[in-house]
Amino acid sequence: MRRHSLAVIPGDGIGPEVTEGALMALDAVADAEDFALEVTSYDLGAERYLRSGEVLTDDDLQRLSDHEAILLGAVGDPRVPPGVLEKGLLLKLRRELDLYVNLRPARLMSGVTSSLSPVYSEDIDVVVVRENTEGLYCGRGELTGQGTEEEVATEVSLNTAASVRRIVTYAYELAAERNETLTMVHKTNVLERAGGLYGRMMREVGENYPNVSTAYQHIDAACLLMVTQPKRFQVVVTDNLFGDILSDLLAGLVGGIGYVGSANMNPGKVSMFEPVHGSAPDIAGTGLANPIGAILSAAMMLRHIGEESGARRLEGAVEAVAAKIELEQLSTREAAELIAEATT
Ligand code: IPM
Ligand code: MN
Repeated sequence: MRRHSLAVIPGDGIGPEVTEGALMALDAVADAEDFALEVTSYDLGAERYLRSGEVLTDDDLQRLSDHEAILLGAVGDPRVPPGVLEKGLLLKLRRELDLYVNLRPARLMSGVTSSLSPVYSEDIDVVVVRENTEGLYCGRGELTGQGTEEEVATEVSLNTAASVRRIVTYAYELAAERNETLTMVHKTNVLERAGGLYGRMMREVGENYPNVSTAYQHIDAACLLMVTQPKRFQVVVTDNLFGDILSDLLAGLVGGIGYVGSANMNPGKVSMFEPVHGSAPDIAGTGLANPIGAILSAAMMLRHIGEESGARRLEGAVEAVAAKIELEQLSTREAAELIAEATT
């Protein structure tokens, strides 16, 4: 029997609930596809930090990197100062494990209401390929004169040729595979240095993909067009912050933040899968959290570990349930149970 070693970080807020739903669905798929998941749970997040002051130790990192994949629920807690968990856990994992691709597919499933409905009820199917290790997320910057009128705060956007080349290459591969247009999104009219580097890599890498058609939009125009003409977009490649913003915008177009999953990947290496939503402490424990983002992330995880048929089975189950049941009427657990049942 095929065995896979999976690390699970339920995390904070609704993280544990949606993760439980995803594991329920994964169990059903593993049975149906005849493979086994060996799950190790890691107690990382707010509770651990409040108890011990630790966010992510070298030892945690070492142990996590010994698995094939990591499934993460959500991090963030009002009792912890902003940034501590986000930067110390989530962004650190992305950077230390060199998870340079943040893949964020957004597809409007039949039976799900877009915030554009009824104006827009046609297929929306966009994949954002977000650079996941650099840009404004690099952590560099400076603060001088704090608390005075002379305060100066700078945040540096770091963009290296090697990182831009690899993310652009990943995006071309995906566009070629899907036979779709690749749109670069940036702000080349203002951020000419970073935008210029992305543009150069689009041209250079593009020489190896003569059959992939390409387009370019500035980030502001991309936001407008995604709302007014979402069908113009198929595969989008962009930097870290623009990708963060666009993926939330797209979530609104395909049902809401609870409907989208994501993969933080270094293809062929340990990678991390998490819903796009945050920890939503206001609804934690109420059963209102939508487990679909976590379940779709779990499907991406299966694809990453070579269980393509299981990934499709799980995506099919989500679609089947969404098509016939008003998901908003179900609790987290009820939705996950129905999806798990629909995998067989
Ligand atoms: C996301 C989140 C994170 C990000 C935060 C929590 C640091 O918004 O995964 O989209 O900005 O990447
Ligand atoms: Mn985000």
